[in-house]
Amino acid sequence: MRYSDGFKATYALISDIHGNLVALKAVLDDAALWGVDGYFFLGDYIQDFPWPNDVVETIRSLPNVTMIRGNKEDYMLGIRLEDQSKWNYEQYAPIYWNFKELSLENLNFLETLPTAKLHKTEHFEIKLEHSSEFFISGQPRFELLHSIDFLKRMKTRPAREIELFFETRRKILCDPGSVRKLSEYPPGINAFGHNHLPWMLVFNDAVHVNPGSCGVSLNMDPRAHYSLIRVGAKGVFPVARRIKYDIEKACVQLKKSGLYKEAPHWSNLVIREIQTGEDVVGVFLRFLKQTASELGCSSWPVDNQIWSLAAEKFVYPY
Ligand SMILES: [Fe+2]
Repeated sequence: MRYSDGFKATYALISDIHGNLVALKAVLDDAALWGVDGYFFLGDYIQDFPWPNDVVETIRSLPNVTMIRGNKEDYMLGIRLEDQSKWNYEQYAPIYWNFKELSLENLNFLETLPTAKLHKTEHFEIKLEHSSEFFISGQPRFELLHSIDFLKRMKTRPAREIELFFETRRKILCDPGSVRKLSEYPPGINAFGHNHLPWMLVFNDAVHVNPGSCGVSLNMDPRAHYSLIRVGAKGVFPVARRIKYDIEKACVQLKKSGLYKEAPHWSNLVIREIQTGEDVVGVFLRFLKQTASELGCSSWPVDNQIWSLAAEKFVYPY
């Protein structure tokens, strides 16, 4: 069955798979139902699940694909340029495992990807970036576009996700400096991922859209997230999709993998993360930093002794 409903074109916008092939397949099955005409991928293909080659090869086999790379690919490709003994830190075990696991061809392919791209389709222009300097890393800081702040807010003052969505929108539109920056965006789609939180804003003729994370959702909804971009008679608009997938299967397979053997603590955090949709890794990394600072250590990554101590003492939930 295909949902053919008179739209001129439909594209899938997918981000932050983090190696989760089970989630990716569920998302691609859903996208196929909509008869998509092409795919945009926003990076972070690898890290937390044991299928980096399958994920890269599955994406490369799709028709009409546009890809950029994310910070996970950058970390991993950095291993090639650095003294690899530095990567023996337990903190970096998952990324190092991915580096060793990926075929040379896939590594070389990831290296060819740009960090940002402006792409023209027949119907619209789309700018692809893994993160957003304005929405995520710039000033003023929009707290609810950061997964740890989002989690903290939901745990301390629960709200419906849609209320937080509008709260951020209001904060942006009430700040003259932010409105000025928004006005500078050209017409078309400005797509970004990175924070694993789906979000969107239409301002003038620009559509800003974050599809959320396919593989490791952090908006307290553990389904796999992506967006459709639909081209209709009245223009282009995104449609947020949230897809149920076999989370248990992904967890069981992770536990059986070489990745789990090399990074058991990290993998257990990831398992908790995909079961809850909560930024468990982020909370642990804050705890790790605090533990290191209490011991008078400011280097990052931390040495393995501090990592083990923090892993032993860490208690979740928040
Ligand atoms: Fe990511």
